[in-house]
Amino acid sequence: MEPSIQPSAVMLPRIGEKAPAFKVVTTQGEIDFPKQYEGSWVILFSHPADFTPVCTSEFMTFASMEDQFAKANCKLVGLSVDGLYSHIAWLRTIKEKIEYKGMKNVEVKFPLIEDITMEVAKRYGMIQPGESSTKAVRAVFVIDPKGVIRTIIYYPLSLGRNFDELYRVILALQTADAFSVATPADWRPGDDVIVPTAGSCGVAKERMDNKKDMTCYDWFFCTKKLPKETVLSTVLKK
Ligand code: BEZ
Repeated sequence: MEPSIQPSAVMLPRIGEKAPAFKVVTTQGEIDFPKQYEGSWVILFSHPADFTPVCTSEFMTFASMEDQFAKANCKLVGLSVDGLYSHIAWLRTIKEKIEYKGMKNVEVKFPLIEDITMEVAKRYGMIQPGESSTKAVRAVFVIDPKGVIRTIIYYPLSLGRNFDELYRVILALQTADAFSVATPADWRPGDDVIVPTAGSCGVAKERMDNKKDMTCYDWFFCTKKLPKETVLSTVLKK
């Protein structure tokens, strides 16, 4: 009997692993990825095609938030399987002609990779033939300052991303790293954070007895306060 899941030819990147390296041409010159981003968080994201409406709305939104991401030490890198001249023409059209939801004259300053050979898109699993074999889906890879993949999100062609959520992801990952905590559903800076699960019954009992600054709903589920100012002063550059 045929296996129901066919093995993929390349090993796709996974959370916790080093981001696959590549050297490419972009609208901002050549980049050596992820090497030249060491020390910064980076969002590598793909879009299906230049000169398409959902992608245009996404680029305008992301470009408008670039400074906000930069303050959280996060750089943006886009990719599609279009060529460089198409990228340049599309970004120029966006700047010169498109006014959308109060955004106008939007200049996309972050690099947009040309990937006509689909080499990078295939390596990162951005080509998902059930959706399209000629276009990348809307993939998002969040990579930390050491070049490790920390979050992967995929959207289909028809669904524009929520960039507030991507910003929340950047803040949440940095908060988890800085304070050795986890972040619960829908967490935003200022909300309580989760204290990691106790490793043994002894620690669990001590934890229940010694709640001090924690709220414990049971031995495995304790939260504590982490003020918004503490989070933002840690994560955001002055
Ligand atoms: C869009 O960005 O509008 C789009 C791109 C490819 C397929 C469908 C929609």
